[in-house]
Amino acid sequence: MTADPLQIALVGFGTVGSGVARILTDQAASIARRAGRQVQIRRVVVRDTARARDYMPAGVEVTDDIQSVIDDDQISLVVQLIGGLSPAREYMTRFLDAGRDVVTANKALIYECGRELFEQAARQGRTIGFEAAVAGGIPVIAAVTQSLTGNQVQSIEAILNGTSNFILTQMLNHGQSYEDVLKEAQALGYAEADPAMDVDGTDAAQKLSILTQLAYSTRVTLQSIVQQGIDGLELLDLQVAQELGYKIKLLATSRLNGDGLEVSVQPTLIPRHRTLAQIDGADNIVSILGDAVGRTTYSGAGAGQLPTASAVVADIVDFATGRTAVTFPSIVDASQQTGIAIQPKEALQRRFYLRFHVEDRPHVLADIADILGRHGISILSVRQDARRDGHDYARLVIMTHQTTEGCLADADVELARLECIKGTSIRLPVAE
Ligand code: HSE
Repeated sequence: MTADPLQIALVGFGTVGSGVARILTDQAASIARRAGRQVQIRRVVVRDTARARDYMPAGVEVTDDIQSVIDDDQISLVVQLIGGLSPAREYMTRFLDAGRDVVTANKALIYECGRELFEQAARQGRTIGFEAAVAGGIPVIAAVTQSLTGNQVQSIEAILNGTSNFILTQMLNHGQSYEDVLKEAQALGYAEADPAMDVDGTDAAQKLSILTQLAYSTRVTLQSIVQQGIDGLELLDLQVAQELGYKIKLLATSRLNGDGLEVSVQPTLIPRHRTLAQIDGADNIVSILGDAVGRTTYSGAGAGQLPTASAVVADIVDFATGRTAVTFPSIVDASQQTGIAIQPKEALQRRFYLRFHVEDRPHVLADIADILGRHGISILSVRQDARRDGHDYARLVIMTHQTTEGCLADADVELARLECIKGTSIRLPVAE
């Protein structure tokens, strides 16, 4: 191999950073063949150099000084693996200004600042790789920006948050409590630093927004996404859905219809026979319908150390070979476009699962059905479970025919005034 080694800096050496170092060390020979040159970690930047670490490759300079990366002109690629927006945004800006290309796994940064950072990189003749920012180890950024470019994407249906999927799976299969499973997901390195972002749907919505921007060349902000997390769900919801022939998953969807693009992240009842319903644990799935290719589906580990590091290493190799320089301009272009209108949230049409805790007395069902009926919502089926020991309410599940988010939101205002309904109710869409 005659080419000079590619010298890189790792900024951040947490779960993913140390995973990247392990892969680059363990697979050094095959990575060198694929990259056309050796890949060497020259510097690792950490917050606390005194902290003991399980693993650090030999011969690497460990520093807490970002400027030392900027001043070191042997380093051409910075692999920035820190979370959050600050100081990640400022660091990336400085690296690009200093003429470095960057690889990152930071989806919040790409969601919030991708457009301006891509523009800056393009101006400087640099690139940004971010395969690991969406769906962990699944190569879905490459799919939408390279492999499927002959298609008008019709829909994306995806499970994009490993933590939520892990929680739903463990609750249903092992009867574990929500709180216990969340702690386990944190210990396994799946969850965000603030796990509220996982369970309230924000993490999945940011990833869906990035994918949607690239697949449809149109800007989608979280404000225009119907977003609902798994935090209000009870084990009984998962069990009742199962009895009805569904699995509840945090489903991220963007779909073209006659009125534009409908975009949502919601716990959704998915028919059990569908592949989407069979993705368990921290795995992710992305199912893309293209007008030419039909449906293509990608699944695998959406979180965790080595799966995420696998995607980061792919970006490093793409940079080393020059592939990123070829593909990045189309990403910059897609990030600037705003072509397709996003459908207003209230117009989204689906069937729904409604769950209420209600007083077990005459006329309760009639009162609820009356409100739904007056808002044009037609009932498909009703199921009431007997009062459980220790509870003074019964559980009522109503499946509706097709209706809109808007009709249900209007009905909710009136339902909230009914004294027979206790505690928090749940409304979930049902996928076909
Ligand atoms: N917290 C994320 C998840 C992993 O649970 O899917 C990184 O995106």
